[in-house]
Amino acid sequence: MKHAVYPGSFDPVTNGHLDIVERAIRIFDRLTIAVLTNPQKNPMFSTEDRMDMIREAVKPFHADIQVDAFHGLLVDYTGQIDASVIVRGLRAVSDFEFEFQISLMNRRLCPEIDTIYLMSAAEYTYLSSGLIREIAILGGDVSGLVPAVSARYLKQTASRS
Ligand code: PNS
Repeated sequence: MKHAVYPGSFDPVTNGHLDIVERAIRIFDRLTIAVLTNPQKNPMFSTEDRMDMIREAVKPFHADIQVDAFHGLLVDYTGQIDASVIVRGLRAVSDFEFEFQISLMNRRLCPEIDTIYLMSAAEYTYLSSGLIREIAILGGDVSGLVPAVSARYLKQTASRS
C-alpha cells in the first residue's frame, strides 16, 4: 500500500495541480493532498476554503484521496500520516532549483522519505496560482485554467476586493 503526500499552498487549486493529482493516483494507492497553513504567506483563501475547493475538484477522480491541512515541517507531517513519498509537480526548468533545494533538505531531515517529481502536462507549464489570483482580481477570464469550483471562489473573492 503506497501512500504519498502532495503538499502545497493550493491558493487556489488549478488545473495544473489536478493534472499532477491525476498522474499521482495512477502510481500510488493512496494520496493525501496537504494544504500548507501558513499565514505568513498571506493567502487569498483560508485553509478551509482551499481544502473545500480541492475536495470538490477531486471528486470526479473516484480515488483514495484525502484532503488535509498541515503546518510545521513537511517531513514531520509526512511521517505522522504514515506516507513515505512526497509528490511535487515540475513545470519548467525554473522550478528545478527550488525543488532541488527543498528535496535535498527534506532528505537530510528525514532520509526515509523520498520526493518524486511528476512533469506537468505541457499546456500547464505556464500556470501558477499566483498568476490566476492576479488575473481574477483584474477581472480576466480564468476558465479552462482552474476547476469550476476555484473559478466560483475567485469570482466571489475578487468581487469583494
Ligand atoms: O505550493 P507551494 O507554495 O510551492 O508549496 C511549498 C511547500 C508547502 C511544499 C513548502 O513550503 C513546504 O514544504 N513547507 C513546509 C515547511 C517545511 O517543511 N520547510 C522545509 C522544507 S525544506
